Amino acid sequence: MRVIYILLILLSILQSHSIYAQRYHPLANLWKVDDTEVPEYLEFEKNLTAIDEILRPILEQDDFISSFGGTSINIFENHIVVNTVNYSKVDDLLALPQITPHKAFLFFKKTNNSMSLLKHNFYKISSIAQIIHPKRVLIYIDMEYNNVVLYFLGHNINNTEFIDAVKSFNPTIIYEGSSPPSQNIIRPQRDYDYDNSIKIKALGGDGLYNNANNMACSLGFWATNKYHPEELYIITAGHCHNNTDPQNNFYLLPWNSTLSNLTFLGSMVFDFIEIYDFGIIHVVGEDVSPSSVIRNDDADQYKELPISDGAPVSSHGVHICKSGYTSRFTCGYVLGLNEIYATEDGFTVTWELIITTLYGGYGDSGGSVFSFVSPQDLNLVVVHGIIITVGLASCSAQSIDTIFKEVNEKIFYDLILYLGNS
Ligand SMILES: *[C@@H]1O[C@H](CO)[C@@H](O)[C@H](O)[C@H]1NC(C)=O
Ligand SMILES: *[C@@H]1O[C@H](CO)[C@@H](O)[C@H](O)[C@H]1NC(C)=O
Ligand SMILES: *[C@@H]1O[C@H](CO)[C@@H](O)[C@H](O)[C@H]1NC(C)=O
Ligand SMILES: *[C@@H]1O[C@H](CO)[C@@H](O)[C@H](O)[C@H]1NC(C)=O
Ligand SMILES: *[C@@H]1O[C@H](CO)[C@@H](O)[C@H](O)[C@H]1NC(C)=O
Ligand SMILES: *[C@@H]1O[C@H](CO)[C@@H](O)[C@H](O)[C@H]1NC(C)=O
Ligand SMILES: *[C@@H]1O[C@H](CO)[C@@H](O)[C@H](O)[C@H]1NC(C)=O
Repeated sequence: MRVIYILLILLSILQSHSIYAQRYHPLANLWKVDDTEVPEYLEFEKNLTAIDEILRPILEQDDFISSFGGTSINIFENHIVVNTVNYSKVDDLLALPQITPHKAFLFFKKTNNSMSLLKHNFYKISSIAQIIHPKRVLIYIDMEYNNVVLYFLGHNINNTEFIDAVKSFNPTIIYEGSSPPSQNIIRPQRDYDYDNSIKIKALGGDGLYNNANNMACSLGFWATNKYHPEELYIITAGHCHNNTDPQNNFYLLPWNSTLSNLTFLGSMVFDFIEIYDFGIIHVVGEDVSPSSVIRNDDADQYKELPISDGAPVSSHGVHICKSGYTSRFTCGYVLGLNEIYATEDGFTVTWELIITTLYGGYGDSGGSVFSFVSPQDLNLVVVHGIIITVGLASCSAQSIDTIFKEVNEKIFYDLILYLGNS
């Protein structure tokens, strides 16, 4: 009798899901809500982000930095979690005229580590990383752990010396479960045919193929010169470049395509892989046209997502998505901002990264990283950067503001995000 009863409950649960649950939007899947609820949660996230924008600089001030330990957005509770070390400062904070109107959206959570301590520890640990050269580790301040996290991408590297050297700062140590999809090295079956017929649109998330190292990467976004809009560029990861090969010609590699119909794009004219990791392809291929759209073709709906703008990420805990050649379209959350990665070779440290819970595989490097922005138009996205490291739940991204700042300060390119009319 009991068995039948449980079966009936199960059946009714399954039924109610198949009848009512509509999860086409990527955020409905991430948040485990129905499509109809996405605009509401997106609005919560937008409003909380705006409040966090006011709150964060105040918490960085001398009066507060040793009493609070950072903030994180929780859309399900519709509040900002404010890590609190010394509760006697809460009233001072709430009394500020900028903060008082938003007090209902602040949740003060008891934590041990203040932001001044976390920043100090992060600074010390990154300095040691530059001396000891650990391999394949993301180093970031995590709001939930209220601590500096060392996230090792792989078990089989001996990082003992580094771990011992930073022990006194008590970081939280995480090892990634197992490795992501294997390296995307592709071997051409035959000579390339060039498809000269019509212009093909290259979208954010499309694959890129570099014949200097038989490797797939992904397209982050298009850029153009502010004063010469006919000049077009593709931004991708700098490590997609092969430094020993004089020619790094890039071809478009659309999703599910083979290497038989490659469309020529151009060569990589600059690659930054010392402190930052991004590269610029000057597009001269005549068969391809630029696009300000991100690809999500495998889905039934929301297949092409127009880019409305480019902006850095500023809050922890908000959603973030990516599109790339290998693992396609995935969404997750922001874990850390302005953080670092000690690379595979152990000598380069990449700065100003966004650490996320995104899933990604090797050929996703360079792919678009963005978030949805409008409760009124669930297609619209803002670009935040490009994928640099991949993992099962740990992709990191180089921030778009870093990319434009470096390009325009160091090589005077006057580049801006391409927002053409497509
Ligand atoms: C979000 O903020 C806007 C403008 O301040 C306000 O009108 C709206 O009610 C807020 N929405 C929610 C869900 O809090
Ligand atoms: C907490 O803040 C109050 C008010 O500024 C201060 O008097 C007190 O010493 C602080 N407590 C700790 C443990 O730092
Ligand atoms: C905070 O510190 C107290 C006292 O040292 C300790 O008992 C507690 O476990 C700590 N909490 C966290 C989250 O580390
Ligand atoms: C790891 O490296 C340390 C020195 O840095 C060494 O003492 C230790 O034996 C190594 N461990 C393994 C398993 O190789
Ligand atoms: C880079 O190019 C050099 C010279 O063409 C080649 O020998 C090497 O295998 C390439 N590297 C990779 C990773 O493919
Ligand atoms: C590849 O190119 C050939 C010859 O131009 C054409 O017939 C074929 O349809 C193309 N295939 C794809 C998938 O575009
Ligand atoms: C690409 O392949 C995947 C998996 O085989 C499939 O689900 C998807 O619909 C294909 N996408 C396109 C655009 O053909």
